[in-house]
Amino acid sequence: MAQKNEISQRIKKLRDLINHHRYLYHVLDKQEISDAALDSLKKELFDLEQQFPEFITSDSPTQRIGGQPLKEFKKVTHRERMLSLNDAFSKEDMQEWLARVLKLLPPAKKNQIDFYCELKIDGLAIELEYENGLLKTGSTRGDGSVGEDITQNIKTVESIPLALHTKVPSLVVRGEVFISKKEFNAINKIQKEKGLALYANPRNIAAGSVRQLDPKITASRNLDSFAYDIIGGYKTDTHQQKHIALQELGFKINNNNKYCKSLDQVYSFHQYWSKHRNELPYEIDGVVVMVNDHALFETLGVVGKTPRGAIAFKFPQNQTTTNILDIRLQVGRTGAITPVAVLEPVSLSGITISRATLHNEDEIKRLDVKIGDSVIVGRAGDVIPNIIKVLPELRTGREKSFTMPRVCPSCKTALQKSAEDVVWRCLNQKCFARQRRNFYHFVSKGAFDIAGLGPKIIDRLLDEGLVLDLADMFELKEGDVAVLERFAEKSAANLIESIAQKKEITLAKFLYALGIRNIGQETAADLALHFGSLEKLKHATLSDFESMLHVGPVVAASVHQWFNDKGNIRLLDKFDKVGIVIKNPKKLSQGKLSGKMFVFTGTMDAIDRNLAKEKVRALGGNISESVSAHTDFLVAGKNPGSKLAKAQKLKVAIISEKEFLNIIT
Ligand code: IVH
Repeated sequence: MAQKNEISQRIKKLRDLINHHRYLYHVLDKQEISDAALDSLKKELFDLEQQFPEFITSDSPTQRIGGQPLKEFKKVTHRERMLSLNDAFSKEDMQEWLARVLKLLPPAKKNQIDFYCELKIDGLAIELEYENGLLKTGSTRGDGSVGEDITQNIKTVESIPLALHTKVPSLVVRGEVFISKKEFNAINKIQKEKGLALYANPRNIAAGSVRQLDPKITASRNLDSFAYDIIGGYKTDTHQQKHIALQELGFKINNNNKYCKSLDQVYSFHQYWSKHRNELPYEIDGVVVMVNDHALFETLGVVGKTPRGAIAFKFPQNQTTTNILDIRLQVGRTGAITPVAVLEPVSLSGITISRATLHNEDEIKRLDVKIGDSVIVGRAGDVIPNIIKVLPELRTGREKSFTMPRVCPSCKTALQKSAEDVVWRCLNQKCFARQRRNFYHFVSKGAFDIAGLGPKIIDRLLDEGLVLDLADMFELKEGDVAVLERFAEKSAANLIESIAQKKEITLAKFLYALGIRNIGQETAADLALHFGSLEKLKHATLSDFESMLHVGPVVAASVHQWFNDKGNIRLLDKFDKVGIVIKNPKKLSQGKLSGKMFVFTGTMDAIDRNLAKEKVRALGGNISESVSAHTDFLVAGKNPGSKLAKAQKLKVAIISEKEFLNIIT
């Protein structure tokens, strides 16, 4: 957990940055970062403020509603403040929201909570005031308390009734004015033909259209509307009933809205529309989830500018913000060195990612990216995510610059770059091949044995820079691999799941998986039994290895050297960090065979003789090469030698290989 003063600093910087972009957007009509990126920043600020309410200030964007009323329009003071909604981006966010809600409800009400889900239209909030059944005023939200009088423009929107179907003395209704996708495209086409700037999204046109001083222009824009709230003049018990009432009064309501009994039903509704939103004639960007019961909704009250009883459950966005934890280099098949950003895992387009490509040295310079930076990441189509923009405003001063090395990170060969090329390359033919072989071996059957992770996939992972060292494999997130060709989302999920399942491994298999020269499965098993733990192996001296039975000087030197390499020790630490659990061979109960002397003769079928001996030692027993009065057991395999006769003579217990296996297992 970061220091409190760091958090207050972060909150301040987020506040300033968000306010800056809101000012650009609402006052200067300029958009420098996407809505999705701004939403992501607002969510981080909201989450931090939830955790540390002592740092909330009155100028925080979570406390105020954007948009100052324009000067040209008459002002309208809203009878009740027009509020806004907090965003949720995941099921976890939704669960947190519900937990906050439930905490405030009396025990008897906790089981009764149900929801009304509305499609969240990408338009502009309006308020309509009716007097004696006639539309009197239409206004924008403005700053929440005071909006602009846009009555004349609102009257051009065909779906807004000028007279109510049922006469009510006084009524205030709220809803959304929007423009269809078709209209949006048509207007942008005209803008283009005229050489004018294009509108970024339908909401911008809707907003621009209702705020025209000449209602004729508004009329030409074919605006549409949905009503979603009644503020005064009409009482209902639930939000659902309110919609029925609105329809009876003559308003257009969204028939896709749905009553949901549980969060699970909310998730299904959200998922359905996330997939089918393209089929709608208008743009939506999420689902508004409301506590259905009005009495409960009122009890929950308002914090800052948002009601506790409602939340905007946004659809997956293709841009978000996160932090760069590290920048690393990948050697590709052609020797191309690709810098890759290791990210704090974050949800992008609905799945978690932890890697983004930085392409090459020029891109690093262009972005001016440093390790530790907060960044906007995005994904365009089916490619690896990339860094769209660094947010230098959020720097703490502790960010580290990154310089491209001039030697290969894998084989240390000097890198080359021709004048017309943007990428540095390692021209050592064996470099990538060697690296690749290590990976194949690592996941193979006798080693980590990861199902579904064959050479083809490993090649892709390496080429894309998704895994840079063996431990990286265990940090991969579904979204990192989902983009690879031939991966449907399902198999990406399967792959991540099968990797996760292999996080526990025996010490013997782990040692074998590391691919240390001269260490096959048998020697790995011997080493595991002899030393008992990775810690002991790390600290073993050369003579410790040499003193092992059946370990020659070449093997001893090779293992010793491996465990004395700083890079390898870092890799071992990383395995620990990514959650690899190494199971040490069981020190069988203070020596089940403690004090017992074993001699072996003949050939063994089921177990290698060296391994059999190691097992005896691990169980506290001793091995001797010849039978004597001290021998407790002679293990007789096929074609036993003269030891058998001697044992019979000395009345030593003679056991078969099968009996021996029973003893040691
Ligand atoms: S209910 C407290 N329902 O989303 C506001 N809002 O920040 C409750 N919006 O400004 C609003 N579609 O303009 C509601 N079906 C819908 C909506 C909707 C779009 C807008 C609304 C509000 C914003 C939430």
